[in-house]
Amino acid sequence: MTLTTKEKIEQLRDVVRHHDRKYYVENNPEITDYEYDQLVKELQQLEKTHPEFITSDSPTRRVGGEPLTQFPTVEHKIPMLSIDNTYSDKELNEFDHRIKRMAGIDAHKDIEYVVELKIDGIAVTLWYEKGLFVRGATRGDGFKGDDVTANLRTVRQIPLKLDPVDKRQKVPQVLEVRGEIYLSNKEFQRLNEEREEEGEPQFANPRNAAAGSLKLLDPRITAKRNLRIFTYAIGYYEDLELKTHIQCLELLRVFGFPVNPHTRLCKNIEAVIHYCNEWDKRCRELDYMVDGMVIKINSLALHDQLGATSKAPRWVISYKYQPEQAVTKIEEIAVQVGKTGTITPVANLTPVLLSGTTVSRATLHNFDEMRRKDIRVGDLVIVQKAGEIIPQVVSVLKEKRDGTERIFEEPSTCPECKSTVVKDGVYLRCYNSLCMSQAKRRIQYFASRDAMDIEGLGPALIEQLVDKGLVKDYADIYSLRHDDLVNLERMGEKSSSNLIRAIEESKHRDLDRLICALGIGNVGSHTAEVLANHFDTLDKLAHAGQEDLEEIYEIGPVVARSIVEFFRNNYTQETIKKLKAAGVNTTKKATPKLVKNPNVSGKSFVITGTLQKYSRKEAETLIRNLGGRILSGVSKKTDYLVAGEEPGSKLDKARELSVHILDEETFEKMIQ
Ligand code: IVH
Repeated sequence: MTLTTKEKIEQLRDVVRHHDRKYYVENNPEITDYEYDQLVKELQQLEKTHPEFITSDSPTRRVGGEPLTQFPTVEHKIPMLSIDNTYSDKELNEFDHRIKRMAGIDAHKDIEYVVELKIDGIAVTLWYEKGLFVRGATRGDGFKGDDVTANLRTVRQIPLKLDPVDKRQKVPQVLEVRGEIYLSNKEFQRLNEEREEEGEPQFANPRNAAAGSLKLLDPRITAKRNLRIFTYAIGYYEDLELKTHIQCLELLRVFGFPVNPHTRLCKNIEAVIHYCNEWDKRCRELDYMVDGMVIKINSLALHDQLGATSKAPRWVISYKYQPEQAVTKIEEIAVQVGKTGTITPVANLTPVLLSGTTVSRATLHNFDEMRRKDIRVGDLVIVQKAGEIIPQVVSVLKEKRDGTERIFEEPSTCPECKSTVVKDGVYLRCYNSLCMSQAKRRIQYFASRDAMDIEGLGPALIEQLVDKGLVKDYADIYSLRHDDLVNLERMGEKSSSNLIRAIEESKHRDLDRLICALGIGNVGSHTAEVLANHFDTLDKLAHAGQEDLEEIYEIGPVVARSIVEFFRNNYTQETIKKLKAAGVNTTKKATPKLVKNPNVSGKSFVITGTLQKYSRKEAETLIRNLGGRILSGVSKKTDYLVAGEEPGSKLDKARELSVHILDEETFEKMIQ
C-alpha cells in the first residue's frame, strides 16, 4: 500500500514524537542522535514542500512566531492554590491526625498517601483540548497567571499532542495538567557562565533562572534554555474516571508527560515520615533542586470531602528541608576580570564541607552586594548552597569580629592592567582592550566550541602563551609556530603538531563563527548567525551604523550599540587586519541551496500579518535563501512589505512611505 504525502507526514510525525518521548521523557533513546536528526530533516523537508499539511502539533513547530510585547492574562478554571508547610516529623503526625478528625476516620486506621519530591521551580498549568496543547500559563496570583504558551511549546518534554502509549486509553475532550518547570543544575551553571562572559547579571539560583527564562518575551531565546518539567497533578478534566492520585500520575505517564520517578505510594503516615527522612540527604544527589517533599492523600474522594482553605487544599502538605549551611572564614577576597572586562569580587574561604562537596570559593556577585552585607576579609561567615550551585555568603557573624578584619576596597584600577575602571550599572568594568586578563578570557572564548572550535587550545595553555608573551590577543594565535609550542609545559611534539593543524583548520570557519568568536558584547552564537546572514562579509558588518543594525529583525538598540562600539575601537581594527593577513575567512560561505532570485536578491522585506501558506519563520528563510534581507520595521529603506491577514500598523506606515505592498498571492508569484 502506498501512502499519500499527508499520510507519510503524519506517520513520520508519530515516529519523531515516539523518539522525542524516549529521549526527553523516558531518558532511554532507541536510536542515535544522527538517525533522529535524519528523521527530523526528512519531516522538515516534506513539510517545506507541502506547507499545506503543516499543523501546529508537528514536532517541527516548537519554536516560532514573533516576540510578544507582553503576556496576555489567563484566568485559571480551578485556582492554583499553594501548599501548607511542615518542618518536622511531629508536624506530619499532626497533619495525619487532623485529617482523620475532619474526615471522621478512626484514629487507628491508616490513610494512604502519595509522596513526591518538591521540585524547586515554577508552577505551570497546561491546557489540552481534543488532545492538542492549546494554552499554558504560570500560576500568577493563583487565580490569574501569564499566558506563556509560546515559551512552553519550546519545552521538548511537553507533548504538543496527547498520544497514549496504551492505545486503549482514550484521549479526553479537555485535560488540564499541572507541573513544575525547572532548570537542571548543569544547565543553570552553563547559563550563568555564558551570562558572566557576556557581562550580564547572573541568576542567583536555578529557580530564578527558570522563572526568568519562562518570562522571556522571545520564545526563540527560551528554546535555548533547555527548560524541563515534572508534572504532578491533573486540574480540570472531562470524560475521565479518576479515583486516586496515583492513578492520575499513571495517566500522565501514559500520555507522555514526565512524572518524577521517585514518587512513592505509602500505606500510612509512618511510611511517609520514613521516606521523607530518607530523601533529606538523597535529594542532593539529583541534578535539579528539591526543597522538600509533597505529601498528598491518595483518595480523590477524600480530597473532595476535605476541600481547601482560601490558601491551600487540606489534603496536601509539604515537608520542607532546611538548606544546609556551614560556618567558615573569608581568608582573602580576590578580583576576577571577565572577557568583556567585568570586575567581580570572589571570596577565598577556608575549605569547608557543604552539601557533600568541599567549598573553598564563593561568589560575592558585585561590590554593591559585598558592601550591603558588610563582608570583610577575615570575617566568619555563614555559607549555604540552598537553591544555588555556587555557594553563597548568607551573612557575616559580626559578633565574632576581633578587630583584625579588613574592609576590601573596591578597586579603582583593573587588577591586571591597572587602567582606570568604570562603573556600569552594578558592575565595575575595565575598558582597556589590551588588558591581559581580559585577553586570556577572550582567547579562551575565541577558541571555544561555539566559536572557532580550536581543539587543544584550552585555558591552561592560553595562560602560558599570554604569560610568556607569545600571544597578546587572539589574532596572534595564527602566528604561533611549532617551535613556540613544544617547549611549553605539558606540550610535546605530537600535541604541538595537532594544535598547529587545528589552528590552521580554524581559518576556514564560516563567518558566523568568526563573528561570535570576536567576543562582541551581547553577541552570542545566535546573534552572530543573524549578522552573518544579513551582511555576508565582516567588512560590511564592521561598517554598519546603529540604524542599519537596528533595522534587522532580532537586533535591538543595546546589541546594535555594542556592535558599533566594538568595530569603532582602534584595537579591534588592528586585530581584524591581523586576522585577515593570517588568511582567516571573513566572508559567508554560500549555502549550496541558495538560488538567487532577481526579484528578491538584494531587496529588503518586512513581513506583517498572518500568511496562509507559510509560517513567519518559513517566509523569512525563503526570502533569505533567495538573496533578500529581512527588516523588522518599515522605513524608507524597505523595498517590499508582504502583508498577510490582519496586518496592523506596519501596513499604514508602508502606505504612508509609499513602500510596495505585496499580498500573499503577489508574493507567491514573485518568488516562483
Ligand atoms: S502539588 C495544591 N506537587 O510547590 C497543590 N506541587 O509550595 C498543587 N511543587 O505551587 C501543587 N513540587 O509550584 C505539587 N510534587 C509537587 C510539587 C509541587 C513542587 C510546587 C508547586 C506549588 C508549590 C507550593
